[in-house]
Amino acid sequence: MTQIDLKAVRKSYGTVEVIHGIDLSVNSGEFVVFVGPSGCGKSTLLRIIAGLEDITSGTVEIDRSVVNTIPASDRGLAMVFQSYALYPHMTVYKNMAFGLENSKMPKAEIDTKVRKAAEMLQITDYLDRRPKALSGGQRQRVAIGRAIVRDPKAFLFDEPLSNLDAELRVTMRKELAALHAEIGGTMIYVTHDQTEAMTLADKIVVLQGGVVEQVGKPLDLYNNPQNAFVAGFIGSPRMNLVQATAEEDGEGIALVAKGTRVSLPPIQGIKPGDTVTYGIRPEHILLTDAPNSSDAIAEVFLSEQLGGETYLYCKVDGIEQLTIHQPGQLPIENGETLHLRFDRAQMHLFDANGKVITNGVQT
Ligand SMILES: Nc1ncnc2c1ncn2[C@@H]1O[C@H](COP(=O)(O)OP(=O)(O)O)[C@@H](O)[C@H]1O
Ligand SMILES: [Mg+2]
Repeated sequence: MTQIDLKAVRKSYGTVEVIHGIDLSVNSGEFVVFVGPSGCGKSTLLRIIAGLEDITSGTVEIDRSVVNTIPASDRGLAMVFQSYALYPHMTVYKNMAFGLENSKMPKAEIDTKVRKAAEMLQITDYLDRRPKALSGGQRQRVAIGRAIVRDPKAFLFDEPLSNLDAELRVTMRKELAALHAEIGGTMIYVTHDQTEAMTLADKIVVLQGGVVEQVGKPLDLYNNPQNAFVAGFIGSPRMNLVQATAEEDGEGIALVAKGTRVSLPPIQGIKPGDTVTYGIRPEHILLTDAPNSSDAIAEVFLSEQLGGETYLYCKVDGIEQLTIHQPGQLPIENGETLHLRFDRAQMHLFDANGKVITNGVQT
């Protein structure tokens, strides 16, 4: 089992720094997901670990020894990319066996490993085919199989499912989770898809602009985002984030965005005049028929009825677009007016810099 540590890692291309000093530990056997918007540095960071990119400063350690100058081929890690990079003229079997044959492993041992991996990935029936006679999902399995047979110290995946259609992506996601449970290796997985991150990870690393925004377990990031970026990135559909100004309100304060006023008890860290962003997830907005206790009046411009659940996209004074997500079927039509209540225990407050003030307001 393999532990990977990054310490103060920086990376520049020419004069442009793209990784701004990252400290990170990937523990032995952990499934760690790097997630963040396109261009935030996920692939660069993974390639740094793999040894495919030099770093400008800092250290990369594998099992507590610094590998900064160790070439990729000697780090013992296996990488799986979005493009499968299979050899088109070789059979599936040969694609998986090729690297091992080069390492002079006995044929019988290679055969055992290839067949075992093929069975695990359900590609035994295709071992004699060439890649072009396989579907995208099958090709990606071969690429994963090629990594498995090498018994790597850790698996590095860079958006391996991005080329697959939605349904297959869900299937492969479950299989990857099962694979990790079965072989138990250290895995680092890069994706821009927060659902993949939430479902696969033991630990998620949220990146933006070459810095780590937050590291934590999936539900910890969902429940306790440390800033507005993480709050908006983790969770689907996204958390509603509303910029407001704090005003005096009896004993407490009110968060005011144009005509929408949310009254709260006093909150440490907020005083009248402050700019505050409040967040409320679509699933935490209550529809109320008591207008007196409502926080907002919404006009539904799109009601999506999916059968098992309902999405309402609304206009609210001072809020560009408010999304509501409720279980079941709600008989609500486009153009209807609703009174909304924001569940205080599920409200997230952020300061003018986006830093969390509180996750959940006590009433
Ligand atoms: N070879 C390169 N030369 C210059 N800039 C690069 C190079 N590779 C990546 N970058 C830049 O580094 C940043 C991070 O890129 P990348 O790690 O590929 O992001 P991600 O994988 O999160 O989409 C981007 O701004 C990208 O333009
Ligand atoms: Mg990338």
